[in-house]
Amino acid sequence: MALLTIRKDEDPILRKVSRPVEKFDEKLSQLAQDMIDTMLSNEGVGLAGVQVGKLWRIITYDQHNEEGSFVMINPVIKQASGSCKDYEACLSVTETYGLVERPSEITVAYQDLDGNHQELTADENLSRILCHEIDHLDGVLFIDKMIPEPDEDEDPEEPIAEEA
Ligand code: CO
Repeated sequence: MALLTIRKDEDPILRKVSRPVEKFDEKLSQLAQDMIDTMLSNEGVGLAGVQVGKLWRIITYDQHNEEGSFVMINPVIKQASGSCKDYEACLSVTETYGLVERPSEITVAYQDLDGNHQELTADENLSRILCHEIDHLDGVLFIDKMIPEPDEDEDPEEPIAEEA
């Protein structure tokens, strides 16, 4: 198991656009496994290659349920509908969380580790995680999309934001 260093805050790599993956080899599988280990050891729900210094279009996610961890290569959002506001945080952005509006349902086309083309329709929390990770592949952080907090009377509870 190899834990990778997570790039943070002002690290300029976080603003770069990642390249499509073309070689589906052992090196890619190893990176995916290292990313999953790194994500889980930091209690994250998602991670993008750029966050560990690899400018490849690869993301991992894990909702911490019985389904386990997943990898998507070259993910593209094919369809998006609805909208939902919720709090987000990021393993690459320290001590910040905020409200972000995301589609409530998306369909993502991607490749698996063997290069096979797949499609997944996700809603609610998973839609949010995938949108957040796919943004990373284009150098976009959730802080770019943060919207103002609602009035405190409306939402007196401390928000819970998962890091991705
Ligand atoms: Co993030």
